[in-house]
Formats: sequence, C-alpha cells, structure tokens
Amino acid sequence: MIIFRKTFLALTGLFICFFLMAHLGANFLLLLPEEKARTMYNAYSAALRGNFFITVVAYVNYACILFHIFYALIVTRVNQAARKVKYIVNKSNENSSWTSQNMLFLGALIFCFIAIHMANFWFKVKFRHQDDDLYQMVVDLFHQPLYLFIYVFAALPLGLHLSHGVKSAFKTLGLYHKKYIRWIADLSVFYAAVTGLGFAIIPVVLYFR
Ligand code: HEM
Repeated sequence: MIIFRKTFLALTGLFICFFLMAHLGANFLLLLPEEKARTMYNAYSAALRGNFFITVVAYVNYACILFHIFYALIVTRVNQAARKVKYIVNKSNENSSWTSQNMLFLGALIFCFIAIHMANFWFKVKFRHQDDDLYQMVVDLFHQPLYLFIYVFAALPLGLHLSHGVKSAFKTLGLYHKKYIRWIADLSVFYAAVTGLGFAIIPVVLYFR
C-alpha cells in the first residue's frame, strides 16, 4: 500500500513538474520587449482559454496538486510512525539533507504561495472575467513591493522542494539505477535551479522595467 501511495506521489509530482516547465516557458514571454510581450502574452493566454485539450490538462493538473498534497501527508505520517518504531537513536541528520527532511514544510510554503497566486490571477480571470489585458495585470502586481517579495521568496522553497522531489520520484519509480544516479541527481538540481531562478527573475525584471 505504501508503495502505491509513493508511486502516486511521484507520478503526480512529475506531472506538476511538466506543468511548471510549460508555465515557466509561457511566462518567459513577459521578458520580451514591452509591446511584443503584451501582444504575445495576451494572445497566448486567450488561446489557452479557448482550447478544450488545455482545459482538460488544467483540471488534471489541479487534481494532481490536490492528490500530491494528500499522499504527501499520508506518506510522511507513515514514515514518521515507522521511524519511531525502528530507531532508538534517530540519526536522520547524518543520513539525509535538510531539504529531504523538510519536504512537507517546503510543500506547505509552496501551497500558501499557490493560494495567493490563484487569488492574484486565476480567480480574477475565471470568476471576474478580468482577462482583457493579463500582461498589464501581471506587471501591476509585480510593481507592488509586497508581491514582488512574495514571488521572489517563493522561488526558494520551490527550488529546494524540486531538487529533492525530482530525484526522489525517479527513485520511487525504480529509475534510479546505479549507472545513472549521478546523472539523475544533477538533472534534478539543474531542473530545480532553472525553475526557481526563472520564476524569481521574471518579477524582478518586470519591477525594474
Ligand atoms: C513569475 C511567476 C509567475 C507568473 C507571472 C504566473 C502567472 C500566472 C497567470 C497569469 C495565471 C492565470 C492564467 C489564466 O488563468 O489564464 C497563472 C496560473 C497558474 N499558475 Fe502561475 N505564474 C507564476 C508562477 C507560478 C508558480 C511558481 C507556480 C507553482 C508553484 C504557479 C502555478 C500556477 C497554477 C497552478 C495556475 C493555474 C493554471 C491553470 O488554471 O491552468 N505559477 N499563473
């Protein structure tokens, strides 16, 4: 049962990673020269909204986020209970990194960020139909120092969570063969760094533009 839960945790996590890659790529449009960025970002988001396939993928993504949180809570509880029974002396500090021991805490920070983020854009687009100039909405938000700080700060727990999460997902799925350990570990760190730095740079560039 725990294997099933961990597999589900890994698969939903990897799906979210693909979403994040696409989301970051789309948001890089914001870094184009101003008028080009406005036209392309607004055209891109309008095209997504009218696309049935993208709508289905979006709902799968929401489900993955919710299941990922649900199974993360269960797996952490089960692991904690097992550790209490197995070890009299807990040497987890010696065997694992700070990140691997604090995945739930990092995930909780990311969840708080996503809640704020959905209220900033998704809620306004979906329920208030404020979708005529999404580019301007993003620029206006990042000109507020509080949100600039929140978006830049959120990149840190996100990067750390991904750097351990991707590696761990490969391990759970049995793809962590001895031959490829180094390669997968490097790939996880590279993906996490690009994603974290990418999402952090966008608000800063827009703030100073
Ligand atoms: C520079 C940083 C970011 C910008 C400018 C940005 C922008 C946006 C915008 C404009 C939307 C609404 C799109 C629409 O409904 O048409 C959106 C949706 C969303 N964003 Fe972000 N985002 C950023 C970072 C992030 C990060 C770091 C995460 C996850 C940790 C994230 C997760 C999501 C999710 C889950 C949605 C809902 C997607 C959907 O409805 O399909 N975003 N983002």
